[in-house]
Amino acid sequence: MDARLQRRVQRYGWDAAAPFYHDGWSAQLRPAHDTLFEFADLRPGMRVLETACGTGLITFRAAETVAPGGSVLATDLAGEMTAAVARHAEAQGIGNVKTARMGAEELEVEDASFDLALCALGLMYVPDVQKALSEMRRAVRPGGRVVATVWGERRNCGWADIFPIVDAHVASEVCPMFFGTGGPGALKAGMEAAGLSGLHETRQSEVLEFENAESLLDAVIKGGPVAMAVKRFSEEVYGQVESDFLSSVSAYRKDDGSYAVPGEFVTVSGTV
Ligand SMILES: C[S@@+](CC[C@H](N)C(=O)[O-])C[C@H]1O[C@@H](n2cnc3c(N)ncnc32)[C@H](O)[C@@H]1O
Repeated sequence: MDARLQRRVQRYGWDAAAPFYHDGWSAQLRPAHDTLFEFADLRPGMRVLETACGTGLITFRAAETVAPGGSVLATDLAGEMTAAVARHAEAQGIGNVKTARMGAEELEVEDASFDLALCALGLMYVPDVQKALSEMRRAVRPGGRVVATVWGERRNCGWADIFPIVDAHVASEVCPMFFGTGGPGALKAGMEAAGLSGLHETRQSEVLEFENAESLLDAVIKGGPVAMAVKRFSEEVYGQVESDFLSSVSAYRKDDGSYAVPGEFVTVSGTV
């Protein structure tokens, strides 16, 4: 699939996922976000650029930490995502968060205009990851830092069969590059190629808890990158996908009907 089509699939897929994403993933991604914050070492006054902000799971946490005096520009390819962040900022009277719809590979920001660039769990969806990392680096002043977290290796992510299960019903793969950034050394090498130095990498294994099958299906199918693809399915195909996916994670089902699904994350930071 060409890069332009891939971006469209992602943009409108995440527009569709937006209403389910925040509640579906907030607790499950918390350990990965904690690591990103540890690496980011945010301080009051910092100007932060965020790539692929989603519904703002790290945006508002970052904004609170850099106050007073600091701010966050939250960017995302999906307009429904930046709109959700803008709505929340307005409703809560949070003045140091601004939003802009833009793709990771073409950040419309001045060179060296931020102290820190962050991206949590967004780079797996970007066709040209190297360009996205170079853009994050370009936006940060000398001495500032870039920090990114991605999902790890496919074999360590228990929910990963959702891709082949959905792909079996569509013309081309929904997210062919997903696990490209999570392999050994991959994100670190990308950061190095983007010209960052003093690199630190960590790989963490977590267990993602879902209360029941419904919350797992809502997060992975309705609140994830396959959200647009499945919208077009007939009721019958949709039901088949749900049932195939639940079979693929049956080993992680507990006696009380909840799920404990393994997940792996990689976080890397580098200095400009
Ligand atoms: C899993 S969500 C992560 C959201 C948030 N950073 C978090 O950690 O909760 C992935 C986000 O990447 C965005 N995305 C996908 N492709 C993108 C691209 N090429 N440029 C910018 N954002 C993109 C999606 O719209 C979605 O909001």
